[in-house]
Amino acid sequence: MRIAVLGGDGYCGWATALYLSKQGHSVAIVDNFVRRLWDFELGAQTLTPIRPLPERLDAWRRRTGKTIQSFVGDVTDYEFLGSVIRDFEPEAVVHFAEQRSAPYSMIDRGHAVGTQVNNVVGTLNLLFALRELRPDCHLIKLGTMGEYGTPNIDIEEGYIEIEHNGRKDVLPYPKQPGSFYHLSKVHDSHNILFACRIWKLRATDLNQGVVYGAVTDETALDEALINRFDYDEVFGTVLNRYCAQAAVGHPLTVYGKGGQTRGFLDIRDTVRCIEIACANPAAPGECRVYNQFTEQFSVLELAQMVKAAGKKMGLKVEIDHLPDPRVEAEAHYYNAKHSKLVDLGLRPHLLSESLLDSLMNIAVEYRDRVDQSLFLPRVNWRNATNDRRPIAAVASAPIPSA
Ligand SMILES: NC(=O)c1ccc[n+]([C@@H]2O[C@H](COP(=O)([O-])OP(=O)(O)OC[C@H]3O[C@@H](n4cnc5c(N)ncnc54)[C@H](O)[C@@H]3O)[C@@H](O)[C@H]2O)c1
Repeated sequence: MRIAVLGGDGYCGWATALYLSKQGHSVAIVDNFVRRLWDFELGAQTLTPIRPLPERLDAWRRRTGKTIQSFVGDVTDYEFLGSVIRDFEPEAVVHFAEQRSAPYSMIDRGHAVGTQVNNVVGTLNLLFALRELRPDCHLIKLGTMGEYGTPNIDIEEGYIEIEHNGRKDVLPYPKQPGSFYHLSKVHDSHNILFACRIWKLRATDLNQGVVYGAVTDETALDEALINRFDYDEVFGTVLNRYCAQAAVGHPLTVYGKGGQTRGFLDIRDTVRCIEIACANPAAPGECRVYNQFTEQFSVLELAQMVKAAGKKMGLKVEIDHLPDPRVEAEAHYYNAKHSKLVDLGLRPHLLSESLLDSLMNIAVEYRDRVDQSLFLPRVNWRNATNDRRPIAAVASAPIPSA
């Protein structure tokens, strides 16, 4: 298939582009490198030294003889996006190209607006470009499990049957997102559903859980193919951050009580889920929703697992409970369905001891690159005014006298 991977220079996109290329698909990466710019803005960098895209693509060609095309530009620019769709003629578009950090979207007004404009406009442009230029192309869009929030009932895969006043209907599952980033994903989901209904586009909206791990068979082929491993408080996902903390002897930063429970998956399952979605396209007019995660854990459970893995390696790992910078339930019911991708053939890589060991090994290998000042939460959901002092320090600071 001809598959365009929007956001292909990012964490999930890079691993996916390589995997799909390896399977024999014709792949194009579309990216404007804005994520590298956001790292620069935050003074953060991935633990692993990722290379510029041209070097990455050269290494892939050298190792495998396969070519991945690249289109450098912004998907919020309709002319650019239209030219990509026209030139590459994709049969499937995998859309990862969004601002994906909840804390980043909560820094202040500017970051909230920037996140929603980038994400909502990019997806809207894509819907219009597909309608105009490739109406039969299958859109595979990355949403997030965070769209649902943490309701006190089971979470279904996108839709729920509701009986009300004696009548029944199958309706989009209620969304209670927890940040302006998550809200941008909900807006996207509504726009996609609407476009499928009125223009008969085909779409798969993948509500992905939190991804962990860095290595896939493809990225392991050459050091120049190495993927991101983000550990900072803004872009670092929780398990990667804990591993980096354990590697340098910093206490693991559990927010609040740590009962916040979420869906998780291995990056190797992300790439496979995308392949499954490509191979089984939605029908014209259909907007399918799959919950893309394999296991659920609380953030405290993960910290305890990292502590045990660290102990095996001779590391002394402490767990700290910090005031939760987010506004979220610290203990709650959570039971989200996730069988549709398994029914289509996903065989999950579960979070095993050996996988945790390999994550810890990466963190230890690159620990000289860790900047510990990036660990403590500074983005505060309650004020969102870009007061970037660490929240723990603010909480324990003496209250100024009047
Ligand atoms: N990483 C996770 O744990 C996770 C979990 C759930 C959902 N997701 C979703 O998966 C997608 C990919 O996440 P990721 O972790 O790979 O993020 P990432 O930041 O590593 O990659 C996103 C890529 O998109 C590019 N991009 C962003 N806006 C763009 C624009 N306007 N034009 C062109 N390129 C643009 C960035 O430069 C970056 O390379 C996101 O939509 C995210 O919301 C990720």
